[in-house]
Amino acid sequence: MAALLCARKALVSWAQCGRRCLSQLAELPEMHQMLRQTCRDFAERELAPIAAQLDREHRFPAQQVRELGALGLLAVETPEALGGAGLDYLAYAIAVEEISRGCASTGVILSVNNSLYLGPILKFGSEEQKQQWVTPFTTGEQVGCFALSEPGNGSDAGAAATVARRDGEEWVLNGTKAWITNCWDASAAVVFATTDRSLRHKGISAFLVPMPHPGVSLGKKEDKLGIRASSTANLILEDVRLPPQSMLGQPGMGFKIAMQTLDSGRIGIAAQALGIGQAALDCAADYAQKRSAFGAPIAKLQAIQFKLADMSLALESARLLTWRAAMLRDSRKPYSKEAAMAKLAASEAATFISHQAIQVLGGMGYVTDMPAERHYRDARITEIYEGTSEIQRLVIANLLLKEYQG
Ligand code: CAA
Repeated sequence: MAALLCARKALVSWAQCGRRCLSQLAELPEMHQMLRQTCRDFAERELAPIAAQLDREHRFPAQQVRELGALGLLAVETPEALGGAGLDYLAYAIAVEEISRGCASTGVILSVNNSLYLGPILKFGSEEQKQQWVTPFTTGEQVGCFALSEPGNGSDAGAAATVARRDGEEWVLNGTKAWITNCWDASAAVVFATTDRSLRHKGISAFLVPMPHPGVSLGKKEDKLGIRASSTANLILEDVRLPPQSMLGQPGMGFKIAMQTLDSGRIGIAAQALGIGQAALDCAADYAQKRSAFGAPIAKLQAIQFKLADMSLALESARLLTWRAAMLRDSRKPYSKEAAMAKLAASEAATFISHQAIQVLGGMGYVTDMPAERHYRDARITEIYEGTSEIQRLVIANLLLKEYQG
């Protein structure tokens, strides 16, 4: 633990190093390189060896999440005064990629806590809300979740049917939120509910809900294709009474809070996809050099070399898009389109690379003796959550057309 705390202190002091713009970068600034190495070492030592077992047992990696908390990685961008590492968003993207390279489930647990849970509270919360809802979620002892989707609406986030009504001073919430990552392991949720459905997105507000809490229950743990060590479930709200100070931001601001949170969150999912893609490429390149056919390692065959080249190209281009989106955000420039591009490119790259990796491994890619089949299963969700690939294309096209309109 002492070593981890030391490393965390180092991360914080690295944050004081200067930042350079991506166009000037031959390589990452020193601070980010050191962070990358720290996360890579942790993932190789603590996560990669147990990722298959966590996946098999659907087990939340509680001990590893606490260790990541001690390193500051559950709250990368959260200011030090609130218990976070106080680093920038590029650092966050790098951390999520490296952790996901070792274990994609742990990557999303980290990503949801950082960007979907802490993110909106840091941006829209009052000082009192930050003290109560941020600091206890920086250490890895507790994680948060984000409850936007519902059984009847996912992509159409403005059609929320979960209702918030006023009863005296209190808010009373009723409804069911769906596909909530971290749900079974979370101690709080940012929940979106409408005070007037006829207003569509303008009627939605955001609330901070403790878990457990009277009236809050969990649906069954979903039995998923991938990221099986992270829990996903419905969050059921039945006459959940909340004090007035539970509202995050102003009444009716919920949809904008959700959209801005997802802009940031999509960079995290892009980074998770990069980590999965990199792990799949590592696996394929390593195997191709060890496996012989026709009298030589298969890495000597152009059929395999072309695959590795295409996999690497897809990964590197997506990484540049991801870092660009993170750096735009760090320099407080608009980044919604770039975040959507990063998520779209990185998630489709991860699907492509993990598919090709199985092809390089052949039969060995199809069985659980090797990690390639897990990378393939883990990659698939990155094209779905925090906005499907179709939604990313919609966001990109809308913003692109606005630029043409001037
Ligand atoms: N930032 C700020 N404001 C935004 C915004 C953004 N990125 N995007 C839209 N808005 C604003 C618009 O300016 C508009 O404001 P006004 O009303 O003041 O004009 C308002 O929001 C409505 O915008 P649209 O008309 O574009 O909204 P829409 O209803 O057509 O929806 C959408 C747009 C892009 C499809 C949006 O609904 C969307 O992103 N859907 C996908 C939702 C999603 O990603 N869900 C994943 C849930 S999280 C998850 O995956 C679970 C998990 O645990 C990981």
